[in-house]
Amino acid sequence: MSTRFENQIAVVTGAASGIGAAIARELAAGGAHVVLADRDGKHLENVADGIKASGGQASAFEVDVSSPDQVQAMVEFAEKLGGLDLAVNNAGIGGEAHFTGEYTIEGWHQVIDINLNGVFYCMRYELPAMIRRGGGAIVNMSSILGSVAFATAPAYVAAKHGVIGLTKTAAVEYADKKIRVNSVGPGFIDTPMVTKHLDAETLKGIAGMHPVGRLGTVEEVSALTCFLLSREASFITGSYHLVDGGYTA
Ligand code: NAI
Repeated sequence: MSTRFENQIAVVTGAASGIGAAIARELAAGGAHVVLADRDGKHLENVADGIKASGGQASAFEVDVSSPDQVQAMVEFAEKLGGLDLAVNNAGIGGEAHFTGEYTIEGWHQVIDINLNGVFYCMRYELPAMIRRGGGAIVNMSSILGSVAFATAPAYVAAKHGVIGLTKTAAVEYADKKIRVNSVGPGFIDTPMVTKHLDAETLKGIAGMHPVGRLGTVEEVSALTCFLLSREASFITGSYHLVDGGYTA
């Protein structure tokens, strides 16, 4: 257990799985009290129990980030622990049409509601809480698809581009309140979002689109995210940071 995030309270959305769970574990290992937030209550409890078993501080909070009321309750819950210092707005979905090429109006709204509106709702309540605390740091999870296209995924690509714009806007607006806001753009990462939809052959092809020749790991995304949240990144705000094995190079 390090002291990197000692005495800090963090919220991580999408913490029941993949990237969010890894970030929650790293923040807790750095001494933060982490509020793990997700709509998947069952897996959420498992991740929180794992953190507590290794000596970390964790609280599980069930939330659907596409509901502003639920997001407000999540931030109030974190504030009651002492005040909100850190937030990772990471919850997201690939969308049913992500890899199939089929597209529906309903699918569009679902992806935008969670991947873009959800990030806005989170910041809408996190920023005032951080102002009350006297400062803070936020990372919003974008994607390589926040800066390049991917055929068949218009809503996902639009949402992830939008997250970068939201991030920049919040960063310039709240810099004088000592709040830093950055976004992270992972390449394809070995998580259920990717692996549960694709067969081995397709996964091999996707791995090969990264010059390093493989998918990324959740720990590699977490390392960058936690650096951006840490005091070492005190002059970094408003920017988009890739962790993509050279995919966009
Ligand atoms: P994952 O599917 O393993 O985890 C996503 C988590 O978000 C799940 O626990 C899910 O229950 C939760 N979630 C989904 N909708 C929610 C909602 N409305 N409210 C609350 N929680 C909700 O996926 P992964 O890969 O860990 O993705 C995390 C983030 O990283 C997402 O924003 C994703 O778009 C982004 N990302 C993932 C990449 C990848 O290749 N895996 C690449 C680039 C970005």
